Amino acid sequence: MKGNRIIGTGTGVPSRIVTNDDLAKIVDTSDEWIVSRTGIRERRIAEEHETTSDFSARAAMGAIKMSGIEPEEIDLIIVATLSPDRLLPATSCIVQGKIGAKNASCFDLEAACSGFVYGLSVANGMMPDQGVRTALVIGAETLSRVLDWTDRNTCVLFADGGGAAILRHEGGNNGILSTYMRSDGSAPPPWLAVEPGVADLSPLGDRVSKDFAITMEGKEVFKFGVRALPDAVMGALDRTEGLTLNDVDWIIPHQANLRIIDAAAKALDISREKFIVNLEKYGNTSAGTIPIALDEAHRDGRIKKGDIVALAGFGAGLTWGGVIIRW
Ligand code: ACO
Repeated sequence: MKGNRIIGTGTGVPSRIVTNDDLAKIVDTSDEWIVSRTGIRERRIAEEHETTSDFSARAAMGAIKMSGIEPEEIDLIIVATLSPDRLLPATSCIVQGKIGAKNASCFDLEAACSGFVYGLSVANGMMPDQGVRTALVIGAETLSRVLDWTDRNTCVLFADGGGAAILRHEGGNNGILSTYMRSDGSAPPPWLAVEPGVADLSPLGDRVSKDFAITMEGKEVFKFGVRALPDAVMGALDRTEGLTLNDVDWIIPHQANLRIIDAAAKALDISREKFIVNLEKYGNTSAGTIPIALDEAHRDGRIKKGDIVALAGFGAGLTWGGVIIRW
């Protein structure tokens, strides 16, 4: 027990709402199909000038305000994202500049939809021994920029926005109790990837002619999600000192698809009421989904002091993992 507590959370999402009916005007789909297959009703999509660092900075300022700290107190910023503003520099450095956290060291982390869980795990590992007392962990995306808006298989699922948490070393018995990270690099890239990649560029430096876009084998990803969610929860619980599923008050899963969450609840044999779900409003914001849902449940008072909260992510890579917190 290291006593690293989340003392503030925040959300940063675009204000533009795109409904399923809006999407039915650009691809051959319907509100009925999207709701019944995924649970998603609407999502937030960035304006032309908005990028991942904007949503990150907005989420960060919300978390900083709730924490009652000053940006200068932050020692570390991790931005988990698969849609950084640029390949260089790191989005975390851009966020640092935007929020004035001038004493922080910064790096980005890419673990797709598991990114926020990975980010919390890494920050927790650096606290307090590696000089980090206060960390800002963000998961945020601008996936609308890497979507093929003519592909109904993907464009109805993904969206923009992110969330943030301030993690502070306070000692005591509350805070992160365990972390668990897993990966499986044997999955064929077409399962879930953004293509073409840097590796596809010509060695002579010619620009690729195609735009970047998410490709996905929906059925394979679905099956993976149904396996990975329960493993993320159980793997992290196994690393606590004796907590079991019965002790868990809330599970905050990656918000990809309601049917994946329902199947995970069934596999774990745990009430669906314990799952915090808001994907109907935001769609799949990859690394953003867990911190956005965490912030919502924290602000509306569902998560109370002393509650045991399990965060569970899964995504491309493949990656998956969990974090157990005593709030
Ligand atoms: N609107 C209407 N029809 C559609 C749409 C759409 N948006 N998308 C696909 N279809 C069609 C397909 O073309 C197919 O038509 P066909 O039978 O004529 O070929 C039909 O619907 C059925 O397609 P399926 O793939 O069988 O539909 P399924 O029930 O499997 O649902 C879905 C598809 C929602 C993508 C599902 O497989 C899924 O949720 N997979 C997981 C995807 C996911 O969550 N990805 C991201 C999570 S991981 C991460 O976040 C990193």
